Amino acid sequence: MCGIVGYTGPKQAYPIILKGLKRLEYRGYDSSGVALLHNGKLDVYKKKGKVAQLEESLVGVNVHAHIGIGHTRWATHGEPSDRNSHPHTSSSGRLSMIHNGIIENYAQLKKELLSKNYTFTSDTDTEVLLNFIEDILLNNNCTLEEAVRIALKRITGAYCILLLDEQDPETIIAARKGSPLVIGIGKGEHFLASDASPIIEYTKEVVYVNDYELAIVRPNELILKNIGNEKITPFITKLDMELAAIEKGGYDHFMLKEIYEQPSTIQDCLRGRLHAEDGTITMAGIDDNIEQIKNAERIMIVACGTSWHAGLVAEYIIEELCRIPVEVEYASEFRYRNPIVNKGDVIIAISQSGETADTLVALEKAKENGAFIFGVVNAVGSSIARISHAGAYTHAGHEIGVASTKAFTGQLVVLTMMALRIAIQKETITQERYLHLLTELADVPEKVDAILKNAEHIKTIALKYKDAHDFLFLGRGYNFPIALEGALKLKEISYIHAEGYPAAEMKHGPIALVDENLPVVFIATKDSYHEKIVSNMQEIKARKGKIISIITEGDDISPTLSNDCIFIPPADELIAPIISVIPLQLLSYFTGIAKGIDVDKPRNLAKSVTVE
Ligand code: AGP
Ligand code: GLU
Repeated sequence: MCGIVGYTGPKQAYPIILKGLKRLEYRGYDSSGVALLHNGKLDVYKKKGKVAQLEESLVGVNVHAHIGIGHTRWATHGEPSDRNSHPHTSSSGRLSMIHNGIIENYAQLKKELLSKNYTFTSDTDTEVLLNFIEDILLNNNCTLEEAVRIALKRITGAYCILLLDEQDPETIIAARKGSPLVIGIGKGEHFLASDASPIIEYTKEVVYVNDYELAIVRPNELILKNIGNEKITPFITKLDMELAAIEKGGYDHFMLKEIYEQPSTIQDCLRGRLHAEDGTITMAGIDDNIEQIKNAERIMIVACGTSWHAGLVAEYIIEELCRIPVEVEYASEFRYRNPIVNKGDVIIAISQSGETADTLVALEKAKENGAFIFGVVNAVGSSIARISHAGAYTHAGHEIGVASTKAFTGQLVVLTMMALRIAIQKETITQERYLHLLTELADVPEKVDAILKNAEHIKTIALKYKDAHDFLFLGRGYNFPIALEGALKLKEISYIHAEGYPAAEMKHGPIALVDENLPVVFIATKDSYHEKIVSNMQEIKARKGKIISIITEGDDISPTLSNDCIFIPPADELIAPIISVIPLQLLSYFTGIAKGIDVDKPRNLAKSVTVE
């Protein structure tokens, strides 16, 4: 995974590429670099670290050029270092290339190239592919486009590549399989990027390049071909996205902005779908396929990370309301473990980015077996959205902070609406309960807003426990996946070791960790498990653990057991996870900030995991 940008046209390429890389930094930030082509000469600049470091190193350097490519890396092959940074230069110095993905058979290709006396200056798989392309180019006396096509037929893995050729002053050759590529169409200019954010301020007309497609991009020309050299008519999409949506808008961090956006993103997710007054839910993806979905013998949910946690909540809700068996799978396990998928099985894929490689491949596999794929995706037009048979967007808007926040609550809202829509059709829910839950859903934005107003109190708690080495998060029922999510958020952006557990499971092992230094976060809202979880609090208190509890306003028992309490508005237990996760997002945000961590770009992570 990484971010890539390219430009060819009358403007100065470097500022466009630099700005684009900053927007794409969420995808990887180990190192960055640019290649600029001017007067038949390729200049390559690269630097370990964030894009700002590259920018700093280029102050005073003549970066004049009208064509160029840039990369921000998340290392897979070779440590983050200047020499492993992209762009890479071919052995002869003629070609420069950036790459997003992994070349799986690079070792074999490298062996072949070494036997032909090629030398390598980096440890990357990318440099191997580049020299492989150059070898074909030089030995077959063909065009670069042809050489790329021949090379790509021989490689396995995932890629989005952009190439510059010293001998061709205006052309960028691009190709993709498994890693995203968007081409923006301007007036006498073209922009290339991993997503639309670097393009949005120049043009709203874009072409999403598909797998196994190759693009020959010049200022006034965009030729799209498949790997078999047949021309394809580019399908132009109009971007429905504003520049403000990808800027910080006065907040210190994207993560904080995204947490605070939730009342409105949840509203956007409900808009046009939930009609609490007349008791209906309209979701085209479900409505059009209702027979298939409601008659499914089982539903499988496939996702990773936070999206997988949303899947766990959905499992509880769908089984409760629709009485359809649900299995939730990590996409990375599903894709390799030969799962039983039958024709007619419904697979729900959950993904913020819509580009997660493991999820994408798992779906491709399930689709081959005849499953019906339903995508719950945030990024419009992304690969997962496109390979799904039907779906529902979460409408949370562009999420840039590496830690998923507003996309998660969007996923929960969509999945809850789906369950309600199926249940009413299947008649597995009473009209009364259905109407009650509709009203409860409609009230969520207001309740989230109320919690956000309490942020200062949550900050005080974060400061109190910021130096802890470990945290335990406990929840039961619908709040169990929220315990997992709270632990993941804290790990990601504060680097504190944290574990999430079903509260009752704690006594089967983790309780051994409890002492007076261990903060234990209980997600203990008023629900049918409340008395049980209060007993679990007693057990922790008896062992001197420090209890931080997320509890419902009006609860007067939990405060007597807790060291610190965060009160949240009452909600039906089925809806509670959408609300109870908000204090956990804030708790991890404030802890990360107190520890001086770059919460938008925590170490070792990337927003969109487009490699397996
Ligand atoms: C969330 O905070 C994580 N950074 C990560 O677990 C993420 O949810 C996971 O990589 C899945 O991504 P996706 O939703 O874009 O598929
Ligand atoms: N595999 C390449 C590398 O490690 C590209 C990784 C990326 O997508 O950033 O350099």
